[in-house]
Amino acid sequence: MALREILVWPEDCLKKKAEEIGDIDFQLVSLAEDMVQTMYAAPGVGLAAPQVGESKRLIVLDPNAKDSPGHPLVVVNPLIAEGFGKEYGEEMCLSVPNFAVDVPRYSKILIKGLDLKGKPIEIEAEGFLARIFQHEIDHLNGQVIIGYASSLKRSIYLKKAKKGKL
Ligand code: NI
Repeated sequence: MALREILVWPEDCLKKKAEEIGDIDFQLVSLAEDMVQTMYAAPGVGLAAPQVGESKRLIVLDPNAKDSPGHPLVVVNPLIAEGFGKEYGEEMCLSVPNFAVDVPRYSKILIKGLDLKGKPIEIEAEGFLARIFQHEIDHLNGQVIIGYASSLKRSIYLKKAKKGKL
């Protein structure tokens, strides 16, 4: 396992749609392990492959990362099969340092995807866990939380980022 560098917006890899994963090979399993380690070290509650420079549809998350880490969820090709309700909550992102914004998300979702053995999985999530899933899946579609900010807030952040003053 190895720690990976977390890319910071506006890196290109964070802005493009990640590719569907075909074969789940040794390299992918190894990437997932690195991502889990990187997430805990950051520390964060979720990480998507594009954040470490791999444009692949792979996410890892652990809503209890801060209090009792050790039970990470890893989902290959995750998608939101169903979504219910709507709630706002403040989000931050390891790829968008020193930035927080209120983001509307489904309150409850059904996630479908594959585990690292290629077996189909379904996960029902609500509240904080549902929010993390939706945040990480946004990353796979080239979307970061900056997209939810007002254009003024966004342009101020972009100016700071260009000056290297985040
Ligand atoms: Ni993020």
